[in-house]
Amino acid sequence: MKISVYAENPACMKTDMLCILISEESEIPDIIDPKIDEAVSTKDQAGLSTPERFARELKKIVRAKPRTGKIAVTPTLGLLPADHILIGCLDGNASDPIRLLAATSARKAREMNLANLAVLIPEDMPGATRQAIEGVKLGLYKFDKFKTEKECRVPDLVICSSASQEVMAEIKAAESTADGVILTRDMANMPPNACTPAVIADVARRIATQYGMNFGVIEEPELTNSGFGGISAVGQGSKNGPRLITLEHKGGGEARPVVVVGKAVTFDTGGISIKPAANLDEMKFDKSGGCAILGIMQAAAARNLPLNVVGIIPAVENMPGGGSYRPGDIITLYSKKTAEIINTDAEGRLILADALAYGRKRYNPVAMIDLATLTGACIVALGNNVAGLVSNDDTLAEDLLRSSAETSEEIWRLPINHDYINMIKSKVADVRNMGIGRAAGAITAAAFLERAIGDTPWAHLDIAGVAWTQQATTERDYKDHGATGFGVRLILDYLSRL
Ligand code: BES
Ligand code: MN
Ligand code: ZN
Repeated sequence: MKISVYAENPACMKTDMLCILISEESEIPDIIDPKIDEAVSTKDQAGLSTPERFARELKKIVRAKPRTGKIAVTPTLGLLPADHILIGCLDGNASDPIRLLAATSARKAREMNLANLAVLIPEDMPGATRQAIEGVKLGLYKFDKFKTEKECRVPDLVICSSASQEVMAEIKAAESTADGVILTRDMANMPPNACTPAVIADVARRIATQYGMNFGVIEEPELTNSGFGGISAVGQGSKNGPRLITLEHKGGGEARPVVVVGKAVTFDTGGISIKPAANLDEMKFDKSGGCAILGIMQAAAARNLPLNVVGIIPAVENMPGGGSYRPGDIITLYSKKTAEIINTDAEGRLILADALAYGRKRYNPVAMIDLATLTGACIVALGNNVAGLVSNDDTLAEDLLRSSAETSEEIWRLPINHDYINMIKSKVADVRNMGIGRAAGAITAAAFLERAIGDTPWAHLDIAGVAWTQQATTERDYKDHGATGFGVRLILDYLSRL
């Protein structure tokens, strides 16, 4: 999809569809009439006058304001250079009204098989350009890699706005952010037979080369030999061996980096503590956190953010088999702490604890953030539209909440204290990989990670409910069925403010 800017009078613009997004309070004539009058008089001068009757008809049609959050499309009958006018009525109650309607408009243009659409950016709304680009690009997203017949063409986008330096920078940032989300969705949507830990490492290597990042990967037997007991244990039941992947974006000289870590379980059967069959196919999405790291790192490098960012992805497949780890096993994590395995389905915290301890030791980061589809309990607590946040640092938590508000990727902070940390004490090892029954399952999982972190400022995002569209996910036109890419826009917003 091509994105360009048109800085002249939109009423004079040649496009398949001119999209005008207005607030609920605005009256259409205020926006449209002068433009139509202007266009009519322009045409008059050019000797191409359209009968007055047409102008009146057109005004009548576009005066029918759509309902809140909806769009209405009108053919211009040759009156305007644009073939169609789309009026969208922004939902004042939504946190991201432009992103929503831009997505709806783009889908409409695709449905009409148009070659392009132009969006008139409201001048008085900061961030409108960014929202419009994200909405269009993400709204048009479809995962069709495995369809033998591909979708129809994707329309190009024209942004109607001044071509100031700020606008051009906003376009570049929005475009690379959306491309990051798309990479994350593409990877998270991949079926588990085509996306093993080795494949994730290959993709990380490819984007490192393409965008100029350092790349590293550790596999067996080095993982075992270097003390990654959690990654090794979870990975040992699968023929598709585990990988620990690192990506480094160096935009900040010698400054201490921010480390972002993502769980990539390419398929989670539960292992010996095997999961029931219902919806088990969805456990291909258990790699979503790691895939978000790919998208974040690609965009951070593409935008050349002026700071150092390290992405770490522990990638494994959790399978039952003759070589699998078992309930009852005691393993030694990278932190040198021992962990008693109660349930092999609580695998995410084991691989993350290793990755976090490694990140802390190797990079001495100013902050660490992890993203993981960690617990069903988080879905019970917060549903399918809000991710859980657990943090040991109020400033970091507040910064993330601010970026959450800015990007409409919703998060809600859950508590953590010694009562929760005591719930993962083991009688035979330092910790156990489960809390007590089902009590506070999302928090006891985070407590396990906290043990690997020490005093580094850390935030954990449990994205189990939001990483892909599920039963109770609210439909939004910028989310297609499947992986959502949750966290990429949020974390990039956070990083861009540092
Ligand atoms: N990947 C799952 C969590 C999950 C479940 C995410 C459903 C999204 C939808 C994780 O590895 C897991 O199985 N967690 C267990 C932990 C339990 C055994 C302590 C869970 O949530 O049931
Ligand atoms: Mn599991
Ligand atoms: Zn899992």
